Amino acid sequence: MVSTSSLLTLLVLVSCAIVAVTAQNYTEVKLQVIETATPTTMPDEGTYGFGDSNYFRNQLTDFRNGTILGHSQGTCLVTASDNIRKYCESECTQFFVFAAGSISMEGQFLNTPSSLAVTGGTGIYSRATGVCVQSTLSSDGNGTFQYGYNCEFSVLNPPIRDPIPLALTIGAPPVNGACSARAYPNQCYASDRRSSICCPAECPLAPTITAVCA
Ligand SMILES: *[C@@H]1O[C@H](CO)[C@@H](O)[C@H](O)[C@H]1NC(C)=O
Ligand SMILES: *[C@@H]1O[C@H](CO)[C@@H](O)[C@H](O)[C@H]1NC(C)=O
Ligand SMILES: *[C@@H]1O[C@H](CO)[C@@H](O)[C@H](O)[C@H]1NC(C)=O
Repeated sequence: MVSTSSLLTLLVLVSCAIVAVTAQNYTEVKLQVIETATPTTMPDEGTYGFGDSNYFRNQLTDFRNGTILGHSQGTCLVTASDNIRKYCESECTQFFVFAAGSISMEGQFLNTPSSLAVTGGTGIYSRATGVCVQSTLSSDGNGTFQYGYNCEFSVLNPPIRDPIPLALTIGAPPVNGACSARAYPNQCYASDRRSSICCPAECPLAPTITAVCA
């Protein structure tokens, strides 16, 4: 018979084990970048009314040494306007795309500086959560602007690796483990050789984790 105290000990051990498995480490990231918007990368369509939008794909460079890091891409929707001042108050959603990962952010753009919530990320920035403060650094009066972003956020460490992309299969499942249908004669195996698919033509050069046709 199991005593109450050993049962309690067991429960404590089990719940500790669960906590240890789900513990996640986060790393603080500080990112300071300059975004450059030109009439080509952020067209001025001259409409600043409620419900109007603008869109952009601007270059991102390192704030300190000017190294090109990637680009921003996004849209802003005017949520309050007197139709005179540009983009009086907007809801902006944008994505910063860097080589090793991306961050998404959104928030109210109300003159500058504006605080934008960092809402997620990919690659080395997976599960990003934090804040970027955007400020206007310069404007040449001809539609070229430089914006500064001082970002502080935390990311999951180690990062989430990208899941394997799904692929459309153009084959048919084997019947009784064999490919006897005339249209699908070639049996292609997954990398672990535990599953297969019947294909009309070649198999992939390198088998993938799920069985697919080439
Ligand atoms: C978190 O970091 C600690 C200390 O480096 C490590 O022992 C642990 O395995 C990490 N946890 C995860 C989920 O990566
Ligand atoms: C530019 O500065 C960043 C840090 O802000 C640094 O990581 C990077 O190596 C620097 N690049 C060059 C070319 O100096
Ligand atoms: C803006 O464009 C006008 C007309 O092309 C030009 O004369 C002026 O020098 C430009 N200003 C700046 C700051 O580039």
